[in-house]
Amino acid sequence: MKIKKILSLVLAGAMALSIGCTSGKQGGSAVGENSGGDSGGDKKLVVGYAQLGAESEWRTACTNSIKEEAEQRGIELKFSDAQQKQENQIKAIRSFIAQGVDVIGVSPVVESGWETVFKEVKDAGIPLVLVDRKADVSEDLYTSYLGSDFVEEGRKAADELAKLIDSKGNIVELQGTVGSSAAVGRQEGFLERLNEKYPDIKIIKSQTGDFTRAKGKEVMEAFLKSDGENIDALFSHNDDMAIGAIQAIEEYGKKPAEDIKIVSVDAVKGAFEAMIAGKLNVTVECNPLLGPQFFDVCEDIVAGKDVTKYIPSEEGVFRQDTAAQDLPNRKY
Ligand code: AHR
Repeated sequence: MKIKKILSLVLAGAMALSIGCTSGKQGGSAVGENSGGDSGGDKKLVVGYAQLGAESEWRTACTNSIKEEAEQRGIELKFSDAQQKQENQIKAIRSFIAQGVDVIGVSPVVESGWETVFKEVKDAGIPLVLVDRKADVSEDLYTSYLGSDFVEEGRKAADELAKLIDSKGNIVELQGTVGSSAAVGRQEGFLERLNEKYPDIKIIKSQTGDFTRAKGKEVMEAFLKSDGENIDALFSHNDDMAIGAIQAIEEYGKKPAEDIKIVSVDAVKGAFEAMIAGKLNVTVECNPLLGPQFFDVCEDIVAGKDVTKYIPSEEGVFRQDTAAQDLPNRKY
């Protein structure tokens, strides 16, 4: 009896030891254990994504793309919406670190102020991918940046706007969120083109509308109040603000896209509808459907493959005359 009892205790101990060893081995490399390599292969990849908010039609499309793609690939997504507040994004990133996710993705609401938390991510050994917007940090603090060339979007917008007003006139600018890479880049590209090629185009007013429809309308109302009879064109850093501005222009008694030409950025469906209604002239594309590229990068990283530091999105320009043909093919 006694011997039997001792034998079963030894057996139980040996089993516990072997389970302990296996989980110890897996736990040693979060990257390896989810990569489908030596350690079982069926454990889900866990990705934390710190989205900046839900401020525009574009952002909604971006979020949907990330969520849908995670579901399709069977990836466990921990998603956080920071409501346009950097401190909320930082909290989310810290909570992803605490949960030991395999990869962290973030769309930084502004460029500055990320150094400390990104260092924490690096110290925790978690790869970090910047999605859509850039951060002003040294390159060793993130693995890859995936998104648009905002400076190029600004250049394209300037060329389109110049065509509409024969390279001369007064324009007003609705800027995106102050300090965001999207607003900084678009303004830089736009000004660069004006300085180089269009000396007779003057920016008479420029203010932020924070990428939202409501603020775009509010700021355009103020522009019209002070300079209503002097404005030839509007450059809006996104379609949502342009749509808000269109309302303000109509309420002021002018015809958008005729009396005041309008070029914006994003190419969301709302912009095509406005172009078809003859109220917006041009939209420069900024692609929000980043889910597939984002999870490709995540999977490549955990599989130990080399990933490039910058992965650009491919983008076009859409004008009023083809908007009705283009709309049915738009996915966002
Ligand atoms: O960072 C991309 C920008 O953010 C889009 O142009 C804008 O609509 C969004 O809010």
